Amino acid sequence: MRILLTGGTGKAGRHVVPYLVEHGHTVTNLDRVPLRLEGVTDLDVELTDLGQLLSALRMPASFDELDEPQEQAYDAIVHLAAVPAILLKADNETYANNVLSTWNVLEAAAILGIRKVVFASSETTYGICFARGERKPDYLPVDEEHPTVPEDAYATSKVVNETTARSVQRRTGADVYGLRINNVIEPHEYAERFPSFLEDPAQRRRNIFAYIDVRDLAQAIDRCLTTDGLGFEVFNIANADHSVAATTAELVEQFYDGVEVRREMGEHETFFCIDKAKRLLGFEPQHSWRDVVDDPRAG
Ligand SMILES: NC(=O)c1ccc[n+]([C@@H]2O[C@H](COP(=O)([O-])OP(=O)(O)OC[C@H]3O[C@@H](n4cnc5c(N)ncnc54)[C@H](O)[C@@H]3O)[C@@H](O)[C@H]2O)c1
Repeated sequence: MRILLTGGTGKAGRHVVPYLVEHGHTVTNLDRVPLRLEGVTDLDVELTDLGQLLSALRMPASFDELDEPQEQAYDAIVHLAAVPAILLKADNETYANNVLSTWNVLEAAAILGIRKVVFASSETTYGICFARGERKPDYLPVDEEHPTVPEDAYATSKVVNETTARSVQRRTGADVYGLRINNVIEPHEYAERFPSFLEDPAQRRRNIFAYIDVRDLAQAIDRCLTTDGLGFEVFNIANADHSVAATTAELVEQFYDGVEVRREMGEHETFFCIDKAKRLLGFEPQHSWRDVVDDPRAG
C-alpha cells in the first residue's frame, strides 16, 4: 500500500517506517523533522494547517510517481504525529496540536476519499498514567470497555481524537482504527531501563506494568493496514507480559487491593488487555524484555 505516515521521525515512527517498508509498503514521512531514510520521501508539513496537509496529500508520493501518475496518491494514512506526553509543552499547546492535527488528518482523508486511517491513541486515556495522585483501574485486565476519563491535557486530547475519529468514520464509512498504545520501548532500552524496573516494580505502576516493544507496535500498525472492514475500532496495544518480573498475583496483592480481577489471568499476563487486537487484527506480539534481560526469578 502507499502510505502517508505522520510523525515518522519520532520515537515510534523511526522504527515503524522501516518495518512498513520491509513489509512491502511505500511510505512518505510527513513530519516537521526529516527522517532521512533511503527510499522514503520526507515532507516538511505543519499538520495543524489543513491547507498544507491537503496539498501534500495531492502531490505524487515520490519522484518515481511522476512517470506513473496515480489517481490517488495514498491508500492509507498512519497518524503518529503528536506531542506525546504532558510536561513537554504547555498544556494548551499539547491539546491544541494534538486535537487540531488529528481533526485535519481525518478531515483530509474524508475530503480525498482515503478509506483507511490508523491513528495513535494512548494508554493514558484510561486516566491512570497522568493522574494526580494514585488512581487504580476500575477492574483488571483493562480492556477497551474501561472508562476513559483522564484529567490531563495530553490524554484528554487523545480521548477527543477518538471521538473525532468515530464521528468522521460515521460520515464516511471508511475504516478508522485507533491504537491505545502503551509505553513504547525501543530495543536498546531493555538493557538501559529494565534492570531498574525489575528491582523496583513500583516505577511501572502508572503504565499498569505494561509496555509495547516498538517492533510489535509496527506489527500492530501493519495488521491494521491489512485488515479491512471493521469501521471504527479502538485497540489496546501492548506486549503479552508485564514489564517487571513480579507475577500477576504478586502485583495484584501489592498494588491493586480491592480491584476486581474479572477473569483468570496468566502468571505474567499483561494487565493491558490485548485480546481484542489479537482477535480482530491477528496481532501477536513477538518480543519480550526476557529476550534481552535476565529474569531474576528464572532458575
Ligand atoms: N512514546 C510512547 O510511549 C507513546 C505511548 C502511547 C502513545 N504514543 C503516541 O504515539 C505517537 C508517537 O509517539 P512518539 O513517542 O514517537 O512521539 P515523538 O514526539 O517522538 O514523535 C512525534 C513526531 O511528530 C512530529 N509532530 C508533532 N506535531 C506535529 C505537527 N503539528 N506537524 C508535523 N509534525 C508534527 C514531531 O516532529 C515528531 O517527530 C504519538 O501520537 C503519541 O502520542 C506514544
